[in-house]
Amino acid sequence: LRKSDPKIKIKSVFNDGTILNKQKYDSLVATAELSKFQPIIFQDTISNDVVFVYKKQTKEDLKKIEDDFKRKNKDDKEIRKNLNGTKISNLELKDLNGTVYTLESLKGKVIVITGGGSGLGKAMTKYFMELGAQVAISSRDLEKLKNTAKELEAETGGQCLAVQCDVRNYNEVEQMLQQVITAYGKVDVLLNNAAGNFISPTERLSANAFDTVIDIVLKGSKNCTLAFGKHWIDNKQESSTILNIVTTYAFTGSAYVVPSATAKAGVLAMTRSLAVEWAKYGIRSNAIAPGPFPTKGAWDRLLPGDLAEKFDMSKKVPLKRVGDHQELANLAAY
Ligand code: HXC
Ligand code: NAP
Repeated sequence: LRKSDPKIKIKSVFNDGTILNKQKYDSLVATAELSKFQPIIFQDTISNDVVFVYKKQTKEDLKKIEDDFKRKNKDDKEIRKNLNGTKISNLELKDLNGTVYTLESLKGKVIVITGGGSGLGKAMTKYFMELGAQVAISSRDLEKLKNTAKELEAETGGQCLAVQCDVRNYNEVEQMLQQVITAYGKVDVLLNNAAGNFISPTERLSANAFDTVIDIVLKGSKNCTLAFGKHWIDNKQESSTILNIVTTYAFTGSAYVVPSATAKAGVLAMTRSLAVEWAKYGIRSNAIAPGPFPTKGAWDRLLPGDLAEKFDMSKKVPLKRVGDHQELANLAAY
């Protein structure tokens, strides 16, 4: 306004007309409810002045604002103090970002994590337990799962059930679901994290090799999604969540990991389709597409032999670094 007409003046007033001619502005201001900080702005047709009208803060208002501010600061300090006093203090405080990740954010939730015995699945499971969820981890190797469950229970004080299940087999998935319900009485979240992958020129793959990856990633995610979805819908559960771990190349495709890229793209399409179709049942369907995060499972199969020395995963990432497990855990918890 000033630029377009240098004669126009901009004035600020409080709503009792402190600065300007009372008669001129009082009635206008009285017709609108002023909020604490948001001014009402109008242009006076006689003087052409542009007037910002602010709510006048009473002493009580100002005191309340100050008290709110002090209370919030105290709450933050309290959370930090509690964190520092417990075993989970190895978490960076910045990871518990404001109101989203308070310590009991996931209290009352039952979460099933396929492939939760190792790598990223284990990292997410641990954080869910720290945030108060009851969890079940499943995969083919029961011994490994039991060790992970024991380790995480000791570290977090939470509850972790180990359930053997090959996600390629629908009957095993149904049995896994029943085991979780028997143990916890319900299930709120399915995290499809189990995967299979290896690097290879595609023409060298046997039909069975290609199938194996598709079966774990696409068919496995489908099996779990279908079994859990049917259960939630039949039982009229009010709200539930499917979270799928895909990867960046689900969007772009990727050479030398074609079965995985094909399967992850399928999981992404399923995620988007069910987000629409099952929304009416209160089922949320989301996916996270991580870039490279160092895990033994991934690194052994994607960078076998001397590839690990020749190929630096971080160079592919614009930030020139690989992911930190807690970064993924934060997003999954959200
Ligand atoms: C070519 C291979 C192969 C390899 C196995 N096969 N490994 N072919 N190159 N490196 C072939 C076998 O010869 C066989 O075909 C068929 O695949 C099945 O092999 P099995 O060993 O019998 O399968 P199985 O015991 O079921 O094991 C599945 C697996 C294995 C996928 C092969 O690697 C696995 O258990 N993976 C689980 C964990 C995992 O992969 N984690 C990494 C996720 S990382 P034939 O014809 O001989 O019978 C990830 C990262 C994404 O997804 C993004 C990163 C940026
Ligand atoms: P990981 O430790 O090898 O995890 C894969 C898990 O899947 C294992 O715990 C494995 O357990 C389980 N699994 C494999 N086949 C299974 C089957 N048939 N039934 C049930 N469980 C099965 O590797 P990760 O790196 O943590 O990968 C976790 C997820 O992140 C995967 O979805 C992967 O695609 C995704 N991801 C990883 C990266 C990365 O850079 N690490 C990047 C993007 C996406 P068992 O062997 O005991 O069955």
